[in-house]
Amino acid sequence: MRIDVIAAHTKILQSSLNESIVKRAREKKLIEVVLHNLRDYAKGKYRQIDDKPFGGGSGMVLKPEPFFACIEKLISERNYDEIIHLTPQGMLFNQKTANKLSAVNNLILLCGHYKGIDQRVIDKFATMELSIGNYVLTGGETAAIVVIDAVTRLIPGVLGDSESALTDSFQTASVFDAPVYTRPAKYKGMQVPEVLLKGNHAEISEWRYTQGKKKYIKTRKHKLL
Ligand code: 6GU
Repeated sequence: MRIDVIAAHTKILQSSLNESIVKRAREKKLIEVVLHNLRDYAKGKYRQIDDKPFGGGSGMVLKPEPFFACIEKLISERNYDEIIHLTPQGMLFNQKTANKLSAVNNLILLCGHYKGIDQRVIDKFATMELSIGNYVLTGGETAAIVVIDAVTRLIPGVLGDSESALTDSFQTASVFDAPVYTRPAKYKGMQVPEVLLKGNHAEISEWRYTQGKKKYIKTRKHKLL
């Protein structure tokens, strides 16, 4: 899979691509992430990427021209399955969407910043709008990190057998992962649950399922908004 990210602040993404599973997936050529800095597509002496909003109001709006230049170049080179606008006003990103996106070949992620992207960019190119949660981030860059991570780990071959995504929270019926423990079995007077030490795999599965479910019910009962 190839993911092109168009953003005002690509440096925010750079370091996350060079760590852990996303790094490994890139090294194994299972994903390719190409970052496009809006400023590189901006024209004029000052390479301006934003401007004041028509009609007034606070904040700056990302200008259409650099987005058009970059997106038109990309879509002339290959077919994109989705062009995704990352915005707090989008559809909530969840595991189901991550699964769907993990099966496509080419994606573009459009990151807003400041007050957002000129609507004509969205109207012309976006096939989907995604939000990663009900809170406002400074820009879509951090959301792009989240989407790339969640999608990458679902691509076949990215995770080893021992890390299989099939047992992750939200991929299974119990919905949340159970708590996990490692050595030592007793630490500062706190004991690892007995069932995990006994090695009865059926019992352990049952315990994990119940624990995950309990956690889910407890967490989701607290309505945040
Ligand atoms: Cl995708 N972008 C921004 N700027 N804020 C967000 C978001 C995205 N998702 C939740 N908050």
